[in-house]
Amino acid sequence: MLKSLFVIALSLLSAAFTARAAEQAATPERQSWSFAGVNGKYDQDQLRRGLQIYSEKCRACHGMAYLDFRSLTRPGGPQLSMEAARELASGYVFADIDDEGEPMERSGRLGDKMLPPFANPQQAKFMHNGIVPVDLTYITRARSYDRGFPQFIFDLFIPYNEQGSDYVYAVLTGYDDQDPQMTKNRFFPGGVTSMTRPLADNEFSYPIGANGQPVVPQTEAQYAKDVTAFLSWAADPERENRQQTGGYVFLYLLVFLALCLLTKRLYRRREIK
Ligand code: HEC
Repeated sequence: MLKSLFVIALSLLSAAFTARAAEQAATPERQSWSFAGVNGKYDQDQLRRGLQIYSEKCRACHGMAYLDFRSLTRPGGPQLSMEAARELASGYVFADIDDEGEPMERSGRLGDKMLPPFANPQQAKFMHNGIVPVDLTYITRARSYDRGFPQFIFDLFIPYNEQGSDYVYAVLTGYDDQDPQMTKNRFFPGGVTSMTRPLADNEFSYPIGANGQPVVPQTEAQYAKDVTAFLSWAADPERENRQQTGGYVFLYLLVFLALCLLTKRLYRRREIK
């Protein structure tokens, strides 16, 4: 009796585990990012290419409503010239009020935010199968995934900051090649997404290098890498500053430690009282 109860309990448990494994999305692979680690830095050229992909493709559906055009000119980011940022802004249309109080439309300026292409969530839902495409400004901070036992214990001690970036990259490249609808995605929770595969090989023209070839390969994977790097910068533009400040704090603490040790020695020798 007891034995059969035990067997039933065990089989229920294993069934639950298999069901969970089946509905869970695949685990994104860890990528190497230029901005990972203590000395990590954003790669300016990569950020510019990522901005190009965002502007030419993602912007058709997703906004970056917490980022203004002027930030694109700041050091540490894509660092566009004022002229280039102004030109990008002028491609956006904003609703405004004219001098006579009438509603009007004007083109974007440096201080404007990179608003989504739809006027309101209802319109977005109507255009995209009942789903509002998320704002991408903080997407690499807002997403992560279950790393399972025992990995999550190591994560407590060795911070892994690029989890969101790895996830976004995985979603962009995780589509099923055999699927004609182009919506099956092994990394998206549930396995199907309403975003049809957004990137394809040779879809965008990258700057040409000295050897007459594009500076990096024009592949889906490279496009995804670049746009994800750009989104990672947008979500955390202060990263390099913060790391630098951290370095100074360390230096300061070292000097302070040296002073403490010196004081202790002098005190022991009764040179100060
Ligand atoms: C044709 C419209 C369209 C385009 C173009 C598009 N997306 Fe999406 N995207 C969507 C929709 C709709 C969703 C919501 C999917 C869902 O929840 O099933 C989405 C979801 C996402 C998500 C969220 C996944 C999550 O975990 O919620 C990310 C990240 C994303 N898109 C990134 C991008 C990037 C980067 C590009 C440009 C390379 C892009 N998208 C281009 C429509 C689009």
